[in-house]
Formats: sequence, C-alpha cells, structure tokens
Amino acid sequence: MTDTPKMAQVGFTQMKDGTKGEYEFLNALEIDHTRHTADRLLKALVELDESLSGYQITRLGHSLQSATRAWNDGADIDWVVSALLHDIGDIYAPYNHDEYAATILKPFVREQCTWVVQTHGDFQMLYYGQHLDGYDQHKRERHRGYRYFDDNVVFCERWDQASFDPDYETLPLEFFAPMVREVFDRQAYDPDVICANQSVPLTNPEVAAQRAKP
Ligand SMILES: [Fe+2]
Ligand SMILES: [Fe+2]
Repeated sequence: MTDTPKMAQVGFTQMKDGTKGEYEFLNALEIDHTRHTADRLLKALVELDESLSGYQITRLGHSLQSATRAWNDGADIDWVVSALLHDIGDIYAPYNHDEYAATILKPFVREQCTWVVQTHGDFQMLYYGQHLDGYDQHKRERHRGYRYFDDNVVFCERWDQASFDPDYETLPLEFFAPMVREVFDRQAYDPDVICANQSVPLTNPEVAAQRAKP
C-alpha cells in the first residue's frame, strides 16, 4: 500500500512489515487517543460505584470523599487528583490495586504522590490487619525510612481510612473533573511535574482556610 496521510488503517499484519508512513499515521492516532485519558478515567471512576459491597459508601463515594478531605486540607492539585484516583485499580487489579493506580498517575503527578498511592495498601493494613488471619498489620514497616514514609502515614490517616462516612459532606465528581483534566493534559514525565525527591506537605492550613470560606 502507499503511504498517504489519509489512510484509514495500516496494511501490515505483522509489525515488522510496517512502513515509516504507517507508523507516523499510527502515532498521530495514538496522540489523539492520549488526549482523552482524563475522560476515560472519569468514566472509570463512575464504574467504581459498582465495586465492593458491604461498606456504607461505594468505592466512588470513598474516592470522592478522600479527594474532598484532601481539598479541605488545602492539598495541592497533585494530591487531590491522587486521592481521587488512589483506588481506581480496584476495577481490574484487586490484588495490587495500589500499584495499578500508581502506574496510571506516574507520568503526570509528583513522584511523591505516585509512591504514596503505590504503597498505600501496605500502610492501610495498620487499620484492619489485626482482625484477619494472614495479614501483617505492620506491613508498612518494610517502607520505614523511605523519603515519603511519613506522607503515606498522613495520607492514610486523614484521607483514606477516614473516608467511609456516609454523612461526610462530599464534593461531586464534576467538582474534581477539571483538576483531573489539567493533570492528564500535562506533558508526560515532565521533570517539572515529577519533581523527583521533593516533598509537598499534604495539608496547608492557609489554603484550607481560604477554601473553607463560603
Ligand atoms: Fe486502596
Ligand atoms: Fe482507599
């Protein structure tokens, strides 16, 4: 087949046979696809509504409440979006949902936030591990001494383990959607976004006070 920008699909059936024109065509489609990542994630969050019964709120409700608590604590956008998406892996990766969520976030948020999301499952075990056979309540200890250890302590205590309250005034998904779009519109792996080895406090009392104003 000839290489034209108007091709509807490539002609090859094995990748090794593709031409430069075909790969440029595919690359353009892929770039367009990545532009809609935020919308796909927002849709996936709604699907979380169906997961995990038995709690007083749904997984979507828990995600929104975590993000709302982060917002109310004066957290920056990286933290708020990370709190919102921290359990999104529940849909397809029930045994490593934290790593799954972190993989989604990794190119677009601070390294600090990625690590906290990636390991939050180990930290959360402190709150329930003692009640179940075969669980290590102190699994978080294997991360002791790591640069962001204390951040995960705060993340879990203030935003994750606390967010199962049906009476908490929780902000809707529409409130957070522009933040999700902003984060996933960033250039992937931009060093100015990843901010390797840098920590931003989860709570900012001044910003929290501003946000609390009617
Ligand atoms: Fe989780
Ligand atoms: Fe959670």
